[in-house]
Amino acid sequence: MNIHTATAADIPDILALLKASALPVAGIEQHVETTLIARDNQKIVGCAAVEVYGQAGLLRSVAVEAERRGEGLGERLTKGALEMARKRGVRDIYLLTTTASHFFPRFGFTAIPRAELDPALEQSEELRGACPASALAMRAVLLTP
Ligand SMILES: CC(C)(COP(=O)(O)OP(=O)(O)OC[C@H]1O[C@@H](n2cnc3c(N)ncnc32)[C@H](O)[C@@H]1OP(=O)(O)O)[C@@H](O)C(=O)NCCC(=O)NCCS
Repeated sequence: MNIHTATAADIPDILALLKASALPVAGIEQHVETTLIARDNQKIVGCAAVEVYGQAGLLRSVAVEAERRGEGLGERLTKGALEMARKRGVRDIYLLTTTASHFFPRFGFTAIPRAELDPALEQSEELRGACPASALAMRAVLLTP
């Protein structure tokens, strides 16, 4: 399984995967450089993206094709995205989820009140509109090496 950074040419497949996974698509095009994709025989079977706003980051669009779940792909993609965020200087990384609050604690995420989201994240299109108000907010602190 090949995990690497996406390019603009991958956007249609990423959008299709996000839609099939019932995740927001808003703004993802602006963050292709910080989107990881997993490919199997040319087909995109998973993705995970970070939006970077200074020392604050947003982990979003963690998705694995339904038939390929449970193989460890989601974990590999999430770890890769967090490493990418850390390398870009992110200290605190946040996410919003309605469906996978039990998936993320293994990566250091804990639930926080929505009011504790870093104000820098208000620039995020996903956060501003696409993600339902009922979504759970979570935060992890990325340690410097
Ligand atoms: C969440 C998701 C990306 C996980 O992908 P995956 O490839 O199945 O994950 P992995 O195979 O790496 O699973 C790692 C572990 O997490 C568990 N897990 C997977 N999805 C989970 C979920 N939604 N809730 C709780 N635990 C979950 C697996 O059972 C596995 O546990 P184990 O290590 O004890 O066996 C995938 O289920 C998905 O695409 N869901 C729909 C989109 C979504 O909700 N994304 C998150 C919001 S951004």
